[in-house]
Amino acid sequence: MGKVVDHLLVSKEEIEEFCERIGKQITADYAGHEIYLICVLKGSFMFLADLARHIDLPCMIDFMAVSSYKGEKSTGVVKIHKDLDYDISGKNVIIVEDIVDTGLTLSHLKNMLTTRNPASIRICTAFDKPSRRLTPIHIDYIGKEIPDEFIVGYGLDLDGRYRNLSEVVVLRDDDVEN
Ligand code: IMP
Repeated sequence: MGKVVDHLLVSKEEIEEFCERIGKQITADYAGHEIYLICVLKGSFMFLADLARHIDLPCMIDFMAVSSYKGEKSTGVVKIHKDLDYDISGKNVIIVEDIVDTGLTLSHLKNMLTTRNPASIRICTAFDKPSRRLTPIHIDYIGKEIPDEFIVGYGLDLDGRYRNLSEVVVLRDDDVEN
């Protein structure tokens, strides 16, 4: 059975508003410093692109692809599929995520990056589902808190699809067989 769009959850206007708000906040918080933005692939490519345009600071942008092992027990290990291109020691790092769900991926990623001795490390996410958290994690910048629903669009996918939507929607099963 396929999926169809059930309802709109976050509009283009709302996304634009929170990108501007967070961009201004980061610009103020790091005034006089260079920052190192890490785009966690693939889901955060759109958010990173929009957010970065609202940041008025010297800035390096890098990309990383990771997955965390979600077996019966969390091992605290992240598998790196694509690592950063530069050394982050002494840098002011901001990890840019699409969504924080259980928090496992980010907490492992943050621990791993901390061992590389950045000057500071903060977390920024477009969407946050706090009701699903399995591990406590401090998030410094949040676009929008959302309920426990599976969302797609604005970079977020279902099996690789829907990333191109410019707004965020909730899907439901399509009752019609085709
Ligand atoms: P966590 O380790 O459970 O926090 O995993 C976060 C990752 O799960 C995100 O980066 C997404 O790739 C994926 N994810 C969690 N919730 C959703 C959702 O509602 N839609 C699409 N992907 C999601």
